[in-house]
Amino acid sequence: MSNNIEGKVVVITGASSGLGEATAQHLATEGATVVLGARRVDRIRALAEELVDAGGKALAVETDVTRLEEVQALVEAAVKSYGRVDVMLNNAGLMPVSPLDRLKVNDWDRMVDVNIKGVLYGIAAALPHMQRQKSGHFINVSSVAGHKVVAGGAVYAATKFAVRALSEGLRQEVKPYNIRTTIISPGAVATALPDSITEPDIGAFMNLVYESAIPADSFARTVAFAISQPEDVDINEILFRPTAQEF
Ligand SMILES: NC(=O)c1ccc[n+]([C@@H]2O[C@H](COP(=O)([O-])OP(=O)(O)OC[C@H]3O[C@@H](n4cnc5c(N)ncnc54)[C@H](OP(=O)(O)O)[C@@H]3O)[C@@H](O)[C@H]2O)c1
Repeated sequence: MSNNIEGKVVVITGASSGLGEATAQHLATEGATVVLGARRVDRIRALAEELVDAGGKALAVETDVTRLEEVQALVEAAVKSYGRVDVMLNNAGLMPVSPLDRLKVNDWDRMVDVNIKGVLYGIAAALPHMQRQKSGHFINVSSVAGHKVVAGGAVYAATKFAVRALSEGLRQEVKPYNIRTTIISPGAVATALPDSITEPDIGAFMNLVYESAIPADSFARTVAFAISQPEDVDINEILFRPTAQEF
């Protein structure tokens, strides 16, 4: 019986590490064709090779999500190679949190550029194809921080609230095109994400928070769950945490 994942063409941004990498592995095992985007092209090429060697279908395309033309080229590569784009997983992101009064303006800019504009560029790149196909699925990665704000995490939370606002607007607008939209909001999952913190004391604190982090496959399974639903079932939002996480 079909799992409604097999044969789908899934574009994943931020596929060189953490949640994106784990999802590429999981979906490839379920029979999806995965098109991997990230800046560290050596890593996504190695991953694509590994998936192909295991009998899967995968392609790696060097992509910086802060550049619209590169995200468009990523999606175009999927369409050119495999004829369509069924799922756009807007996953690339970073979390250099710090209190506002430290004025880490460069970190604010990078979070806005990758976490918000990167998602917008993913929408801009995939939406025309999905409209034409009259089918598709956007999966945008928010966070528990897209539901709750804590001191020290204002800008990251703002970007993740923005992902939810964009996704909800998108959900309403794409009804005529038979397109599904899912927001996934993880709690602490063990990835390289805390390494993006530039303030040593905040990084040390976050390492303590991440002691209870759960494996990245927890996220991959939620992606698979959303995709695998029958086409008339639209899972709009998933929020999950480590059982031990209070925040
Ligand atoms: N792990 C968690 O606890 C957690 C919780 C909630 C939400 N999230 C969200 O999950 C997403 C994935 O993060 P992760 O936990 O997997 O962290 P990660 O291991 O650090 O991976 C981040 C990914 O984003 C990519 N990326 C960063 N800047 C990029 C850019 N300009 N262009 C293209 N790709 C870029 C990185 O690839 P390159 O550096 O190779 O470009 C990498 O593949 C993020 O949106 C994050 O906010 C994570």
